[in-house]
Amino acid sequence: MSSSLTVIAVGGQTPYEVTIGRGALRELDRYIDPQVARICLVFQPPLRSAAAVVADHLRVGQRRIVGLEIPDGEAAKTLDVVGDAWQTLGRTEFTRSDMIVALGGGAASDVAGFIAATWLRGIPLINAPTTLLGMVDAAIGGKTGINTEAGKNLVGAFHPPKAVLCDLDALGTLDEVALTSGLAEIVKCGFIADPEILEIVWSAQNQIRQPASDPLRDVIERAVRVKADVVGADLRENSIRAILNYGHTFGHAIERVEGFTWAHGHAVAVGMVFAAHVATAMGLLDPTLRQAHHDLLQRVGLPVSYRPGRWNELRQAMAVDKKNRGNQSNMVLLRAIGDPTVVETPNDQLLQHAYQEISGGAL
Ligand code: GLY
Repeated sequence: MSSSLTVIAVGGQTPYEVTIGRGALRELDRYIDPQVARICLVFQPPLRSAAAVVADHLRVGQRRIVGLEIPDGEAAKTLDVVGDAWQTLGRTEFTRSDMIVALGGGAASDVAGFIAATWLRGIPLINAPTTLLGMVDAAIGGKTGINTEAGKNLVGAFHPPKAVLCDLDALGTLDEVALTSGLAEIVKCGFIADPEILEIVWSAQNQIRQPASDPLRDVIERAVRVKADVVGADLRENSIRAILNYGHTFGHAIERVEGFTWAHGHAVAVGMVFAAHVATAMGLLDPTLRQAHHDLLQRVGLPVSYRPGRWNELRQAMAVDKKNRGNQSNMVLLRAIGDPTVVETPNDQLLQHAYQEISGGAL
């Protein structure tokens, strides 16, 4: 395993770098001006000792480090947590030249990013994702947000980070569910833009789930490149960014119906198989490629089916989707590997057919 670092540029109006590799966190200084007087380090409870190490590293000269422990997972993404953070930043007199560093999984960068986006109408943020999902998706692209009763991530802001540091050493502590959840988003990038990812995942089946393996690093870098290219071209999801939602229409519906107990990537994996069935039924996608979805996702240990008898709840959940515009709801489908298209959500009969195909049973 190489100990070198890979730097991938994200373009657009506010360009930044994503640094990937073992020990990448030690690069933090490169992105923080020595004059920065206060840094708020946002972290989750399992990362308490890692946060202490990062805090020591950041504590130079007269600089003040303010630790902000937030709840683990989605429990952090509430207005109460944000309100407490605003109080902390106020008490410690954070100014526009101070900054926030987010250490943790996707929920940490989502909420820390929202705090950074809203304090003084926006202060600088650096993301240090510690999960695979965070590294290849949540920490890149400037989407920040919290959950409300109306739904997940419906309140938020686009606030791109100044830098993202993906320290691959953090992956060593991830459990199987977290690792495969991140792999689903990597495979998604393969389906929508980079077929080489699919080749690597298929042929390196035994190594791909090993945190320190070269094939895993390779596909992480490739997935980050896909995401960097897309969000660099369309930060605000006015056009091409929608393709990153491949598998998410049905995936989000599963998450809602299951009360957010499913890992996000697992729901997206089923969502991609569902989308492949829809695309095949519409005559857009060759059936062999639908089968390829099924086989590849199953090979890396991801779910490819969902229980029967939940159609009404799923259909209702699909209607509440951030991709909808006015009364129109959209869905991302593939015409071929690397050739996504956004279509108006097909009729219910077609969707029901796809659901029956993946549930093997009744509506
Ligand atoms: N996770 C989808 C996006 O960043 O647009």
